[in-house]
Amino acid sequence: MTQNADFEDWVKTGQDLLERFLQQHLPAPTLAPQRLHEAMRYAVLDGGKRVRPLLTLAAGELTTAPLPTLITVGASIELIHAYSLVHDDLPAMDNDVLRRGKPTCHKQFNEALALLAGDTLQSLAFQWLSDPRLALDPARQLHLVQQLALASGSRGMGGGQAMDLENTNQNPTLPELEAMHLKKTGALIRAAVLMGAHCGQPLDENAQQHLAHYANCIGLAFQVVDDVLDAEADTSVLGKTAGKDAAANKPTYASTMGLSQARAFAQELHDDALHALAQAGSQTQRLAQLAHFIVHRSH
Ligand code: IPE
Ligand code: IPE
Ligand code: MG
Ligand code: MG
Ligand code: MG
Repeated sequence: MTQNADFEDWVKTGQDLLERFLQQHLPAPTLAPQRLHEAMRYAVLDGGKRVRPLLTLAAGELTTAPLPTLITVGASIELIHAYSLVHDDLPAMDNDVLRRGKPTCHKQFNEALALLAGDTLQSLAFQWLSDPRLALDPARQLHLVQQLALASGSRGMGGGQAMDLENTNQNPTLPELEAMHLKKTGALIRAAVLMGAHCGQPLDENAQQHLAHYANCIGLAFQVVDDVLDAEADTSVLGKTAGKDAAANKPTYASTMGLSQARAFAQELHDDALHALAQAGSQTQRLAQLAHFIVHRSH
């Protein structure tokens, strides 16, 4: 109970810091072109669990990284995530009308602006991440830029989204489904963890490998749970339309394994993640709590 309250406080503090950064650093809605800036802000602000930046903060605790650096890095990752959601919801992709309890970006604005908002959020992420004021040495900062590019590009999230489209109306095997989920969702979550750790004291090779294993497990678990929630949660709790995967004939862990097996698999991934984490360092409490949150969340 006490530990829970303490975790909730930590989450709230992190979310508030991030929100303030995003509010202040996204282009003002009064700046031209105003509709585009409104759409960018709409897609990012006032919603979302902020799991990826929270992972960045938690991984930074492991390597005692400076908080302002972690906030900027986490915010950059959240911009990529927000862009991925805007494009994921477009009629050409999942054709969704509800996101974070609000009309999707293309419903609130229009499709062309939603495309552009996604594109420009992606550019802004790299603008923030490459800002000379980030106060990391240039080689380390360049490595962060490359990590985010790899995680969001055709070998990461973007590629996973293409696999998602290819797999619609198909029956991929479990290894194929796993490969798709590791890319479309796992890659950015993995990057959030590893980039956070990269902002502080270097980890030895062994600790880094264990941390990467933790990150892979929770990245996959995140999408397994997303699949389960799509099948069994309510739209009002999810803030996005429930039952969309079955309606669109998307192969998921829920449809491939069955709901209770998928839930059990997410728990196995959680346990595997925690086992690896125990060998990654000493300041791992927040990362462990976030793994638990990812697997046991309601939305
Ligand atoms: C939803 O991500 C899309 C997936 C990658 C499964 P989140 O569940 O993190 O969405 P928000 O940011 O909290 O809205
Ligand atoms: C989305 O997966 C993964 C992304 C890269 C955005 P989903 O299509 O299942 O995400 P939701 O359920 O719409 O949030
Ligand atoms: Mg999708
Ligand atoms: Mg979707
Ligand atoms: Mg989903």
